[in-house]
Amino acid sequence: MIIILMKKIPLLLFPIFLLLILPDSASGLGSMGPISASFGNYSLFCAIDASGKQAVICWDAKNSSSTDSSSVHYSTVLPSMAALSGGEGFLCGILSNSSQAFCWDSMGMSKSSGLVPDMFKPNAYSHIAAGTDHVCAIRGSYYSENDSGSVDCWDIVRVSNNSLTSRQSSRFYDQNIGLLVFRKLVSGDGFTCGVIRDGGISCWGPNSSDLGISSISENFVSLTSGTDSFCGVSELSGEVKCWGNNSSYISNLPLGIRFVSLAAGAQHFCGIREDNHGVQCWGNFNASLIPKGPGFLAISSSNFLTCGIREGDLVLSCWFSNVSGPADYDPPLQLCSPGLCTPGTCGEGMFAFNASLLNEPDLTSLCVRKDLKICSPCGLNCSEGFFPSSSCTTNADRVCTSCSLCQNSSCSDVCKLQSTPEMKQKKWDQLRQLLLIIGSSASGFVLILIGWCLFPRLMVTRNGEGKTRYCLSCIRKPEQEIENPDQIPAASVAPCPGVAQVFRLSELKDATNGFKEFNELGRGSYGFVYKACLPDGRQVAVKRANAATIIHTNSRDFEMELEILCNVRHGNIVNLLGYCAEMGERLLVYEFMPHGTLHDHLHGGLSSLNWSHRLKIAMQAAKGLEYLHKEVVPPIVHRDIKSSKILLDSDWGARIADFGLLNPNERDVIVDTSMDVYKFGIVILEILSGRKAYDEECFPASILEWALPQIRQGKAAAIIDRYVALPRNVEPLLKLAEIAELALREDPSERVSMSDLALLLDQIVKDGLIL
Ligand SMILES: *[C@@H]1O[C@H](CO)[C@@H](O)[C@H](O)[C@H]1NC(C)=O
Ligand SMILES: *[C@@H]1O[C@H](CO)[C@@H](O)[C@H](O)[C@H]1NC(C)=O
Ligand SMILES: *[C@@H]1O[C@H](CO)[C@@H](O)[C@H](O)[C@H]1NC(C)=O
Ligand SMILES: *[C@@H]1O[C@H](CO)[C@@H](O)[C@H](O)[C@H]1NC(C)=O
Ligand SMILES: *[C@@H]1O[C@H](CO)[C@@H](O)[C@H](O)[C@H]1NC(C)=O
Ligand SMILES: *[C@@H]1O[C@H](CO)[C@@H](O)[C@H](O)[C@H]1NC(C)=O
Ligand SMILES: *[C@@H]1O[C@H](CO)[C@@H](O)[C@H](O)[C@H]1NC(C)=O
Ligand SMILES: *[C@@H]1O[C@H](CO)[C@@H](O)[C@H](O)[C@H]1NC(C)=O
Ligand SMILES: *[C@@H]1O[C@H](CO)[C@@H](O)[C@H](O)[C@H]1NC(C)=O
Ligand SMILES: *[C@@H]1O[C@H](CO)[C@@H](O)[C@H](O)[C@H]1NC(C)=O
Ligand SMILES: *[C@@H]1O[C@H](CO)[C@@H](O)[C@H](O)[C@H]1NC(C)=O
Ligand SMILES: *[C@@H]1O[C@H](CO)[C@@H](O)[C@H](O)[C@H]1NC(C)=O
Repeated sequence: MIIILMKKIPLLLFPIFLLLILPDSASGLGSMGPISASFGNYSLFCAIDASGKQAVICWDAKNSSSTDSSSVHYSTVLPSMAALSGGEGFLCGILSNSSQAFCWDSMGMSKSSGLVPDMFKPNAYSHIAAGTDHVCAIRGSYYSENDSGSVDCWDIVRVSNNSLTSRQSSRFYDQNIGLLVFRKLVSGDGFTCGVIRDGGISCWGPNSSDLGISSISENFVSLTSGTDSFCGVSELSGEVKCWGNNSSYISNLPLGIRFVSLAAGAQHFCGIREDNHGVQCWGNFNASLIPKGPGFLAISSSNFLTCGIREGDLVLSCWFSNVSGPADYDPPLQLCSPGLCTPGTCGEGMFAFNASLLNEPDLTSLCVRKDLKICSPCGLNCSEGFFPSSSCTTNADRVCTSCSLCQNSSCSDVCKLQSTPEMKQKKWDQLRQLLLIIGSSASGFVLILIGWCLFPRLMVTRNGEGKTRYCLSCIRKPEQEIENPDQIPAASVAPCPGVAQVFRLSELKDATNGFKEFNELGRGSYGFVYKACLPDGRQVAVKRANAATIIHTNSRDFEMELEILCNVRHGNIVNLLGYCAEMGERLLVYEFMPHGTLHDHLHGGLSSLNWSHRLKIAMQAAKGLEYLHKEVVPPIVHRDIKSSKILLDSDWGARIADFGLLNPNERDVIVDTSMDVYKFGIVILEILSGRKAYDEECFPASILEWALPQIRQGKAAAIIDRYVALPRNVEPLLKLAEIAELALREDPSERVSMSDLALLLDQIVKDGLIL
């Protein structure tokens, strides 16, 4: 059955223009973009990376919650691609060198040739859309405007030995379709829909009649498809319209909101809003899991997981649509392409991505050819808690800056700041927030670091060949700076006199092998973390702020922030050693913690800890937190304390790392220390039971629901970790359980303070010596 819907007014030039320039930056099942996922039991995400080679990186939607990188497949397996589209259990792409179609089994990446029938292998394609068990693609060269626009479709068949094979499709052969010229396609379960070049949408395939699209009279700039429903962004209104089985899209269907791209999961859809590039979802999903705050340039969904490429820093961010997934899901560290590389110029309301944003001197373009650009729609305003600090140009999107940095009237309307006496307090709060931002990062990784480079004072000069060279106007001998802190001019950095060392960028570059992957320890929202070996033999951890962090903060705030950071020193926290502020880079250098995280000792591959170790770690970590709560002015609330943020130093002493937020939109939340106490209570339960805070394989999955009732019923002995030899006297462990219970009171006013905890734990450690 074929349904052809022509636009009523085919000669609306403006919409046609829009249609030509609107990028493909999102995908669900069957739509095409720079990031895509396969559907089904085994979901695989793939994205085009930001290396400039358009290499494809893929990662497992189920298994990458651990630090085990074996679940991440690197680009070597797959050729360079121009665009991606995911089906069920397989993905397809268009090769960047030849525009040929390339499809692979998401289960067996290695045996992946053969998923394009021989007769279609030589063809060049400009667009590809993989459905549940079929693929349709539009002929034409990807990087030229010379599309023929006709469509080839083939079936992907699972054969008896459970491998996939392909064959020409009779289900999707339709004579009428053969007469049409298409611009875009989307494929679902048993149907494909296409945007016709001359206007209108046409759907075909055995299930297309189930879509109920008999009355579409407009054109669409972006389409995405679930298995039995699909949504599009109307060319005229920018609003979303959906068809097919309404149970997957009807609830919370956004009305009156303009979108620039869409993604579809099994029972929900998400879109990137035109105004602030934030994510909005509809259908069946848990709203509290959807990221708020900074926006995205591209997103894609598998059944229950959605991943997006964040604007500004191109970092991957993933979230589950319900809570079935692992609690700590970490996508790969690589930066990803924010859109598809296209020839020609970007149109009105669009900006071309500028690779200089990434601070990689060798990277001039994210595309394989110099004449290609990545065009994305400009954001109009910013999410709540952020104000636009510069507007969109042809080379850069508008920049959103946290309202905590708003200092004048131009942003106070948006930020609703008042000039009251509270401002002074607010300043302190801002500093504290900044501090939290710096500290945030890298959950679950063995090392922690923080890097930062303050005060970029750059001059750009050009040499004869037109190559850009960066010079720092304020290069000084770091030693002098430390020895003579008083002589540093007021405008320059004078933090941590006598404590922090100023590192040279070249020094840190050498020490991290040029910030190479194999030196990466982890990454957080604000940058990557590297292990570094200094020339004097010291091992340190270096945190390198990413482009977005640098852009969203200014140097004066960094100066104040560094001052605070330098004054935070304790034997049970990871202390700052120094920093580097050259060439626009911001690097913070921290103590290296050779024994990794408590999390990895309790739950990962690292040696398990005996009881006296565990008690000491609990006590020392409590002292570190007590210090942050009680002795630092203004107090620092960690807000994300968990076993992966407690590191072990060379003497196996516990150190608190990452005093910080993971999410910038949490910055303005009123902080209180009782939340740290509560989260620390959960850490104590982990120490006591050896169980993860949340373990899907257990019932109940939450350690709280499992342990707390037992402790309250006087059955604390039942939760003690049996994989470690029990001490002769279990009394100290039962006390530990009681202490956890005191920290885990639902009513914050009933909870003990961190000082109480530290005292109680200290007492047990003394008793515990008899273990
Ligand atoms: C997916 O899992 C369901 C239930 O676990 C099973 O019935 C179905 O056959 C699986 N599908 C594939 C494609 O493996
Ligand atoms: C996930 O990881 C576990 C343990 O590493 C492994 O047994 C399991 O097969 C993996 N699952 C998938 C779908 O790869
Ligand atoms: C394009 O790349 C693929 C994979 O790397 C390679 O097999 C093929 O020969 C290349 N084609 C051309 C025309 O260079
Ligand atoms: C465009 O494609 C047509 C046929 O597909 C071909 O004849 C023509 O030479 C192509 N033009 C360019 C500029 O490649
Ligand atoms: C599965 O069978 C097909 C032929 O039906 C064969 O080409 C393929 O190599 C087989 N795969 C495996 C993994 O045995
Ligand atoms: C699509 O059509 C096939 C038959 O071609 C049917 O088995 C399947 O259930 C249909 N899928 C949906 C979602 O209706
Ligand atoms: C629509 O989707 C829901 C949820 O997936 C399913 O239960 C229902 O059977 C579907 N309805 C039709 C008509 O396919
Ligand atoms: C959803 O679709 C069903 C079947 O087509 C229809 O009966 C129902 O009214 C629709 N629900 C809404 C809210 O539109
Ligand atoms: C939504 O997710 C939050 C955070 O994981 C969880 O606390 C809440 O119970 C979930 N809600 C539902 C209805 O599943
Ligand atoms: C998430 O949604 C899927 C599909 O509805 C369901 O199978 C799974 O149980 C859900 N998980 C939770 C925790 O609700
Ligand atoms: C990218 O940004 C840099 C620095 O802001 C600027 O010098 C350069 O001209 C921009 N590139 C393009 C292609 O506009
Ligand atoms: C952004 O603009 C839209 C309309 O243009 C408005 O509805 C929305 O509230 C604005 N958001 C913020 C945070 O100002």
